[in-house]
Amino acid sequence: MKRRLVLGTLLGTLSQLAAIGLLLVSAWLISRAAEQPPVMYLMVAIVGVRFFGIARAALRYGERLLTHDAAFGLATRQRLAVYDDLDRLAPGGLGDTRRGDLVSRVVADVESGQDRLLRVRLPWTVTSISVLVVVSLLAFLDWRAALVVLATAVVTAAGVHLLTRWVEASRQAQVAPLRGELASEASELVLNAPDLVAYGAGEPVRERLRGVDARLAAAQNHLAWTTGLGNALVLLATGVAVVLSSVVATDGSLAPVLVAVLVLAPVALVDPFSDVVAAEGLRAVTDAADRRLRAFHETPAPVADPETPAPLPAGHDLRVRGLAVGWGDVPVARGIDLDLPEGGLVAVAGRSGGGKSTLALTLLRLLPVRAGSVELGGVDVERLRGADVRSVVGYLGQDEHVFDTTLRENLRVGDPTADDARLWEALELAGLADFVATLPDGLDTRTGERGGRLSGGERQRLALARLLLGGHRVLVLDEPTEHLDEQTADALVDDLLALRPARSLLLVSHDPRVLARADVVVHLDAPASV
Ligand SMILES: Nc1ncnc2c1ncn2[C@@H]1O[C@H](COP(=O)(O)OP(=O)(O)OP(=O)(O)O)[C@@H](O)[C@H]1O
Ligand SMILES: [Mg+2]
Repeated sequence: MKRRLVLGTLLGTLSQLAAIGLLLVSAWLISRAAEQPPVMYLMVAIVGVRFFGIARAALRYGERLLTHDAAFGLATRQRLAVYDDLDRLAPGGLGDTRRGDLVSRVVADVESGQDRLLRVRLPWTVTSISVLVVVSLLAFLDWRAALVVLATAVVTAAGVHLLTRWVEASRQAQVAPLRGELASEASELVLNAPDLVAYGAGEPVRERLRGVDARLAAAQNHLAWTTGLGNALVLLATGVAVVLSSVVATDGSLAPVLVAVLVLAPVALVDPFSDVVAAEGLRAVTDAADRRLRAFHETPAPVADPETPAPLPAGHDLRVRGLAVGWGDVPVARGIDLDLPEGGLVAVAGRSGGGKSTLALTLLRLLPVRAGSVELGGVDVERLRGADVRSVVGYLGQDEHVFDTTLRENLRVGDPTADDARLWEALELAGLADFVATLPDGLDTRTGERGGRLSGGERQRLALARLLLGGHRVLVLDEPTEHLDEQTADALVDDLLALRPARSLLLVSHDPRVLARADVVVHLDAPASV
């Protein structure tokens, strides 16, 4: 990628130089033609004009291909890095970051990274090199003219840079976070539209969305202002330079045909400098986006893997002693003791909000052990890699995500290699096979966004079937019978019990039928009664 970028920058610089060459050679050609020499004296310049004209376009095309290719490569890498960060942080490490804001990081901030490369760094590099080349060439003709162009370039660059900083860099820095906020508000409005309509609460949310939109528009307006002022500065500086150059060029020491070349030399730099103005306008935006991505990347994982992880033990009995679990510094439950031998069935009960789901996530190493210990197969889980623990311990949440695709693809999230026979087996175990068999499209039935075309119970059982495909030896099931009617719930519990002894089960439940069949019931709000 680096090579493509360097080569692209080189082509971009050559293209810019060709444009400058085109202007200056044309200036010479027109002045010389005015003297009406035999046409053969003009031939070289005519060929030069053609050459520069064609080369400028061809080189620019090559530059675009190479630098965009490099930038897209970079964006892909950055996007994957954001996904990795999400994977590392969710669910405990995201704090209060909203979904829309996360989407904005993956989309807008990563795109800003492309801008940073293509529209901030590249114009600066190309313009700097072009100025140096033009100044060196002019120095052969007249050192004073060279000095004028150099001074103009330096003053313009510094002026544009300071101007954009001065005209409220902070306003521009708001663009990236405001984009995130806009995405959050918009996604909230869209995702919750039915509820908002039902409660007649759409207007305040729309009002908030409008507010954010207006602030973003104001910030972007400022950006346009800055760019306009910068361009005015470039033109002003060029004007002054043209006047100075004409004073230098017309003092009689130069051949008349070169006068136009000298006078037009500063004008040749207007084009590259307008790219620099645009670059400076964008810089605060792209820097802020970069900072947001970096901050995200540097957020510590809620559960860090040990430096030298222990190998995954052969056994999978769980032993929990004096465990405290929670999201922040204050535990939501503490003093939890629990033994789940291989093939055992333990139920966890407790009031709503008592920390049952939090305990489940802690056992999966998605939240840290706040106090006490958890051992898997006799090894403290803090010595194991999180991913290893999760290959043994599987979890069925209370509100599992169903992807907007077919039943088959949703199931294969659990095991991408599973064939249809295995999918049906899992559906059978989860009590969903009869339902799927009645569907005209069977496994090819689409589930709708967030599983919207399924009932709550069907979604839950689909998620259970998906989990069963994963081959985990310890299953932590959070309220598996919650959405089910009595008969189906009984059947599900029977099916779950049949999974033993190959798998052990930890069932979080209020359901007396589940509690009655467990070997042991652990009450979270009263740990002493274990
Ligand atoms: N993502 C989160 N971030 C911060 N705090 C959370 C988060 N999820 C839950 N909590 C807090 O942790 C506490 C325990 O929640 P938890 O979901 O473990 O309860 P629960 O026992 O599973 O309840 P229920 O029976 O209603 O499912 C609650 O007080 C809740 O406010
Ligand atoms: Mg819960």
